[in-house]
Amino acid sequence: MYRTHTCNDLRLSDEGQTATLSGWVHRRRDHGGIIFIDLRDRYGLTQIVFDPNVNEAAWKIANSVRSEYVIKVTGEVRKRLEGQDNSNLKTGEIEVYIHEMEILNESKTPPFEIDQEKNVNEELRLKYRYLDLRHDRMKDNMILRHKLIKTIRDYMDENDFVEMETPILIKGTPEGSREYLVPSRLYPGKFFVLPQSPQQLKQMLMIAGFDKYFQIARCFRDEDQRGDRQPEFTQLDVEMSFVEEKDIMKINEELLIQLTKKFTPEKKIQQTPFPIYSWHEAMSRFGSDKPDVRFEMEMIDVSDLVAHCDFKVFSGVVESGGVVKALRVEGAADWARSEIDKLEEVAKIYGAKGLAYFAYKEEGIKSPILKFLSDEIVEKITEATGAKTGDIVFFGADQFNTACEALGQVRLACGKKLGLMDENVFAYCWVNEFPLFEFEKETGQIGAMHHPFTRPMDEDREVLDNDPVQARAIAYDVVLNGNEIGGGSIRIHEKKLQEQIFEILRITPEDAEMRFGHMLEAFSYGAPPHGGIAWGLDRLVMLFAGEPNIREVIAFPKDQKAKDLTLGAPSEMPENQVAEANVKAINIKD
Ligand code: AMO
Ligand code: AMP
Repeated sequence: MYRTHTCNDLRLSDEGQTATLSGWVHRRRDHGGIIFIDLRDRYGLTQIVFDPNVNEAAWKIANSVRSEYVIKVTGEVRKRLEGQDNSNLKTGEIEVYIHEMEILNESKTPPFEIDQEKNVNEELRLKYRYLDLRHDRMKDNMILRHKLIKTIRDYMDENDFVEMETPILIKGTPEGSREYLVPSRLYPGKFFVLPQSPQQLKQMLMIAGFDKYFQIARCFRDEDQRGDRQPEFTQLDVEMSFVEEKDIMKINEELLIQLTKKFTPEKKIQQTPFPIYSWHEAMSRFGSDKPDVRFEMEMIDVSDLVAHCDFKVFSGVVESGGVVKALRVEGAADWARSEIDKLEEVAKIYGAKGLAYFAYKEEGIKSPILKFLSDEIVEKITEATGAKTGDIVFFGADQFNTACEALGQVRLACGKKLGLMDENVFAYCWVNEFPLFEFEKETGQIGAMHHPFTRPMDEDREVLDNDPVQARAIAYDVVLNGNEIGGGSIRIHEKKLQEQIFEILRITPEDAEMRFGHMLEAFSYGAPPHGGIAWGLDRLVMLFAGEPNIREVIAFPKDQKAKDLTLGAPSEMPENQVAEANVKAINIKD
């Protein structure tokens, strides 16, 4: 038998008992011939004591062990000496005096300390992830993740959802990212594609009549890495039949509130029901389609006020159909020039051409553009923004998306600088009525903003015929403190409408047949009205755990260059195996 108790079990009430424990040597201290070891397992720590007067053989072995050795010990539970209690440990009132000791396995000196949380280079942490996961912080994250998913499963089950697995080797499904391909051995020149999401399959499950489906689904997207993205990530994927947007919102909201209360009871949910902003409103007021609404600092539109001013940047933008937005930042008038320059850099990263401002100083307004504006216009702007002495008003002038987004990023930077994002608040909100289409940045071509199965709003059907880019979608994202944690839509269930969307997307009938023939065919066998959503589970766990990126809540994540450092993947394969997959490697780089 390896153990009678875990390292977190023994209490004062066990005094006098004999216990056997197994675990890792967390820390060893030598005190005048007596050796103390903190023995660690998944559950906690227990202090074990080796006294040569109690058992010399055990003491001798203890003398030879080092950090992270795996040992098995048997001894007597004793109350710690007066004043030696450790109130940080559940087992802190006792220690175990060992009379039997066995080394189960040795350990090399780890590349970083396990008994301390130090700033260790991430590359090293990922290479030795199995050691990194021994740290309390990582262990707690993994357990939180497990418990959260378990609670989700229970909730879905109680609400009649059926968890169903969908295949990983599939045909491409468009979610807007590059796909991972898997060459086929049996069919030379043909490929499977790893799912970017189970989108098409879950829609087919609706056609099959499973009117409430969910899955904890692994998704694969070969996209550039960021803190909140991974090439391989997990969704809570949901689809329902005979529902409208508000039904989907309701069930998601209920589950999110339940999870928040259970796992982060210390966080205050800012508003329930979650506020709903149309995409246009969110962009216009907060400069983001995933607004952080923990703080106000809303942008206002001053296009009308400056439409005819002498500052050509402003009047020119308005004339060409763009907008001029203003952002009042309280108490910022004394910010140094260099700080304002930094904010201008932020705006420029998001496409702005500059960041004009009024600084309301004691001695009057300071501004690089004041000379171009009449007193009357300045007064109107001051009135519209509510600016007072001590404030700054920043301006963004451009086409709607760019002006809003760039100034929205300035808003976030100012919010951060002024400490306006309350760590103790969870501000959930919905963003809906997204544009159905967007122009892709790289190609300039029209594309689906969400995916091509998204339903247009009923009131925009006419626009769809005449000016499709103006059409809005029945699509919604759920946002938490400025992070998009989920997104979904009501789908098209009629073959004809789906064909029309493909046509607008310039997908020819032949192409549509080749890529989505199976979907169009399925739609012709009584597809019910349906819709769904998918959460980015890693992102949600990240926010619940208070971690800065999703790698911290994934057991074996890819690094920022999309590599698996623990296993060393991707890697070269034996030539015969590559040939068998009917693949020839070209452009090989080290
Ligand atoms: P979408 O593409 O918006 O929708 O994805 C849903 C949610 O998944 C998370 N997410 C990611 N998380 C980590 N790494 C990534 N690379 C990554 N990409 C997305 C985000 C996002 O909100 N099939 C649709 C859902 C639907 O319509 O039902 C879909 O996949 O939190
Ligand atoms: P310029 O006329 O280019 O010297 O710009 C004068 C001021 O206006 C500078 O502070 C610029 O940062 C700012 N500015 C220039 N273009 C824009 C724009 N499109 N939106 C907001 N501010 C701008």
